[in-house]
Amino acid sequence: MKIIKKINHLNKYISNVSNIGFVPTMGGLHNGHLSLIKESKKTSDKTLVSIFVNPTQFDKKKDFLTYPRSLKNDLSKLKIKKVDFVFIPTSKEIYYKKRKRKIVINKKYKILCSKFRKGHFEGVLDVIERFLKIIRPKFIFFGEKDYQQYFLIKKYFKKKIKTKIILCKTIRDKNKIALSSRNQLLKKNEIKIASSIAKKLIILKNKIKKNLKNSKNLIQVKNFLTNRFKIKIDYLEIRDKKKLSKNFKKNNFKIFIAYHINKIRLIDNF
Ligand code: PAF
Repeated sequence: MKIIKKINHLNKYISNVSNIGFVPTMGGLHNGHLSLIKESKKTSDKTLVSIFVNPTQFDKKKDFLTYPRSLKNDLSKLKIKKVDFVFIPTSKEIYYKKRKRKIVINKKYKILCSKFRKGHFEGVLDVIERFLKIIRPKFIFFGEKDYQQYFLIKKYFKKKIKTKIILCKTIRDKNKIALSSRNQLLKKNEIKIASSIAKKLIILKNKIKKNLKNSKNLIQVKNFLTNRFKIKIDYLEIRDKKKLSKNFKKNNFKIFIAYHINKIRLIDNF
């Protein structure tokens, strides 16, 4: 496994590889990331994982500073998985050039996290565009837990790049909580709450699938979760999977949630 910090070193290693699978991460690696790596290894000749806590996608400085970092641990996990290349650039390396054109997200997509985290997805699109220019992978892998991220990346890069954007299933722990680097910050009682919320929303999803009329219970569910667990819900919405519009059908929708347990913000979709 080659650990690379500089773009020019990376170029030396990958310039002759035509079939690279790229898994971008911010570290804090868990089984969700490892499942993306597994997919990449299945489809690509070489797999490259980046570890870069991207400052431009954090709307709060404190969130950036407290984001879980565990480089040593991450590297040993990647070594066990026989990843070919790990790219760990500095901010300077990635942002050495200013963008010519500002990234603008269409007003109709300023919903869900895009509404609640100002500039977040603009930061994600910016860093992914920079990585794609450097690496030029054949495939790039994203987890379904961050469905809106995947959706906006697909929209933004449509017709712009040849890289195939692959969506991989959300991995859940035994408590049904979607794996996320932020879960490390949860205390025991907070894990219980996150688990109850996930289970409740899985039940709701199944009910709606059986009968669309059950979607009307959403407001009740939102009030119940807020009062029962003393959480702050940014949004709990049902949207169509293809367009993220509020016009959804029985078999083509997702329930999206973002909430705060104490100071930790979690997102999920079902
Ligand atoms: O999903 C993430 O971890 C990040 O948003 C990503 C895609 C690595 C970009 O920084």
